[in-house]
Amino acid sequence: MFFFFGLLTALVTGVFSVHVVQKLCFPYFWKDVLFLMKIIRYGIRLEIFKWTSKVVTVIDTFVQQAERIPSKTFLIYEGVTYTYQDINARSNKVANVFLEQGTIKKGDSVALLMNNEPDFICVWFGLIKLGCSVAFLNTNIRSRSLLHCFNCCGAKTLVVGADLIESLDDILNSLQEDRITVWVMKKESVRTEVKPLLDKIQQASDKPTSPALRATTSLKEPTLYIFTSGTTGLPKAAVITHLQSLKAAGGFWAYGGSQDDVVYIPLPLYHSAASLLGIGGTIVLGATCVLKKKFSASQFWNDCRKYNVTIFQYIGELCRYLCHQPKAEREKEHKLRMGVGNGLRPDVWREFHLRFGDIKMCELYGSTEGNLCFMNHVGKIGAVGRSNVFYKLLFQYDLVRYDMVRDEPVRNRMGFCQHVKRGETGLLLSKVGPTSPFFGYAGSKELTEKKLMRNVFANGDIYFNTGDLMAEDAEDFICFKDRVGDTFRWKGENVATTEVTDVLGLVDFIQEANVYGVEVPGSEGRAGMAAVIVKPEFEFSGKKLFNHVFQELPAYARPLFIRLLESMEMTGTFKQQKFNLVKSGFNPSTICDPLYLLDYSEKSYVPLTDTLYDSILAGEHKL
Ligand SMILES: *[C@@H]1O[C@H](CO)[C@@H](O)[C@H](O)[C@H]1NC(C)=O
Repeated sequence: MFFFFGLLTALVTGVFSVHVVQKLCFPYFWKDVLFLMKIIRYGIRLEIFKWTSKVVTVIDTFVQQAERIPSKTFLIYEGVTYTYQDINARSNKVANVFLEQGTIKKGDSVALLMNNEPDFICVWFGLIKLGCSVAFLNTNIRSRSLLHCFNCCGAKTLVVGADLIESLDDILNSLQEDRITVWVMKKESVRTEVKPLLDKIQQASDKPTSPALRATTSLKEPTLYIFTSGTTGLPKAAVITHLQSLKAAGGFWAYGGSQDDVVYIPLPLYHSAASLLGIGGTIVLGATCVLKKKFSASQFWNDCRKYNVTIFQYIGELCRYLCHQPKAEREKEHKLRMGVGNGLRPDVWREFHLRFGDIKMCELYGSTEGNLCFMNHVGKIGAVGRSNVFYKLLFQYDLVRYDMVRDEPVRNRMGFCQHVKRGETGLLLSKVGPTSPFFGYAGSKELTEKKLMRNVFANGDIYFNTGDLMAEDAEDFICFKDRVGDTFRWKGENVATTEVTDVLGLVDFIQEANVYGVEVPGSEGRAGMAAVIVKPEFEFSGKKLFNHVFQELPAYARPLFIRLLESMEMTGTFKQQKFNLVKSGFNPSTICDPLYLLDYSEKSYVPLTDTLYDSILAGEHKL
């Protein structure tokens, strides 16, 4: 008897102390295990698709949900609700219109230029139902870049939102020359070269098209093209296969989402976050989403309360704007329990918690085209992801030493890269192999090759270069440090420095331009700045430069600051030296070169004075 009690006590103490030890030493143990189990379960499902050559795509899942829960609300937009059945039926109509027209067939790619609205989704799904792939065009980009997008993905058809048709005025002729059919989401069109689509959709049958049309046997089949401002030149079309689209759609589920969740999507659908993760994730859960045309900080909490929003998608800027809103009374009264996104800085993160309560913020790291993804599923402040031994088996990545001044990875005498020590910052590389393929960019082997690094640790190995500097701490949390190379982020968009450099090079007085991003206290990302050499026989003209960048570049890519230089410093490998320029920033009291600031009210670049500089830092002068 006593023996029994003794045993029991020992057992209880034993279990208890294991629990305590585990809590102290491995506080995230169970969370990690549960999360990994989910990832593995999902991974096995995808493997089965591969082996049976029967892929249940995201759209297949949507159709299944529309049969299972037809009258459940799928989408809420500007106060109007659309059920799963509604969206399914309307996307059938879209499919039937194009089927009757007979101009596009299975395997074609079709470009979509639309802002957030329900028909974005209906057209997207409708085209997929015909077995087409859809290229999402960024609604900010201008003529030259837009034309280039068609070449990348080979689209011969373009569907344009009613509110965006004017933005095509200057390229309609070129589109016609390239024999691209343009459809507009209107009942009638004033131009003969633009065909109205809305009238036809309304008259079309909502009978489902044959599932055989959209069926696919391979996860590696492209389903979307999403344009990213890559590291070089014009936008690049990242190939999104069913594999990536299914992986992303599992995001909310992996983070613990359920069918009872209401997901708030304030980000543009032409980015992968809103379309693949947001819409795809809602479908996988069988949940409801609230789609916004544009994010509005002042409407955010009212929307959340009105629609009982439980999950929201964010980028860092968005949370900062919310924290900048004047304090209100019922700030903690809402049902929001989780945010999923990227780019939340620790200071904003803490303030967000203080003001709006205990909302788990799940940072997600992964580029549209990349083959690696990190998820901070425990919500630890400041980390973009979490790793451990098992995770490293699933995703093979490495952090290697990076020389900031030379702007390239450090190679040893043998020509190989070197791992950083734990806690040290290094360039994130992700191994390319059969389990982690890199699908590259449509229509350009060269661009695809540029994102790859070969012979990294051994002869013949291949890695995807993320261009991001990261550090891994003692607890296996991964933190984002900086971005290297030729891109930076501003206002939630990627800016390719070479694209901006090319555009600046067209200005008559500019001999050479070097574009980079500088940090502005109180802002996310980096503001565009260009160091410019003026041709000897010319003079700098702020007005001329303004008109040019206003015409040629989307707002987020226009350089905010200009610095005039006499000569350009080069790196050892004859690249433009950016490191010192980035470091010295845009402070007129420490830089002797002439500095200018983009000024929309003057429609010019104006001299950047100390007063202007101070008001930018104080947040009074909005950038
Ligand atoms: C939100 O939740 C409340 C309380 O659970 C409920 O009364 C209300 O009808 C819900 N609103 C919507 C739009 O679902």
